[in-house]
Amino acid sequence: MSGIEREGTGMAGSTQVVVNGVARDVAPEPDRSLLFALREELGLTGAKPGCGEGVCGACTVLLDGAPVRACQARVSEAVGHAVTTIEGLASDGHPHPVQRAFLEVNALQCGYCTAGMIMSSVALLEQAPDPSDAQIRTALEGNVCRCGTYPRILRAVRRAAELARDPGGRGIWPAPGSATTSTSCPTA
Ligand code: FES
Ligand code: FES
Repeated sequence: MSGIEREGTGMAGSTQVVVNGVARDVAPEPDRSLLFALREELGLTGAKPGCGEGVCGACTVLLDGAPVRACQARVSEAVGHAVTTIEGLASDGHPHPVQRAFLEVNALQCGYCTAGMIMSSVALLEQAPDPSDAQIRTALEGNVCRCGTYPRILRAVRRAAELARDPGGRGIWPAPGSATTSTSCPTA
């Protein structure tokens, strides 16, 4: 795992997983859910516990770039692979284009499903940079929004595709490295 930062105690018998580019120690109980390890041991609470049965998508994270339900994945399945959570999407303090698009379109109500929606969308856009509406619906069909914000989520993914193609973008949120970077609230 050269080139990967390390963080933790290196405690004897611990299990190591690479999360957001950093090798982290978790307790040596490989059958625990990845969601539990992320939230309870590593303090990464972006992935949300929902159904606990793999059907709502609130807990979605990426494993080597592919969306997985962290409530169903075991810690042992993550060993040797790259785990990405919502906390790892921003770079240099700038939100990922999908995060920017969700904010711009206001594609959330309570926000409980949002991290999972964003992670599934990130995976989709990696595979299909200019997805059709049908592709977006298929990619997100395992992510449930109880607030019914699906139309705005669809718009946000379309917008994210635009922003990803044009990172210098016309988005409300400043693009990484933009000379016009501002910290003012976009809705102010
Ligand atoms: S909590 Fe994991 S899919 Fe619902
Ligand atoms: S915004 Fe409330 S569940 Fe989706």
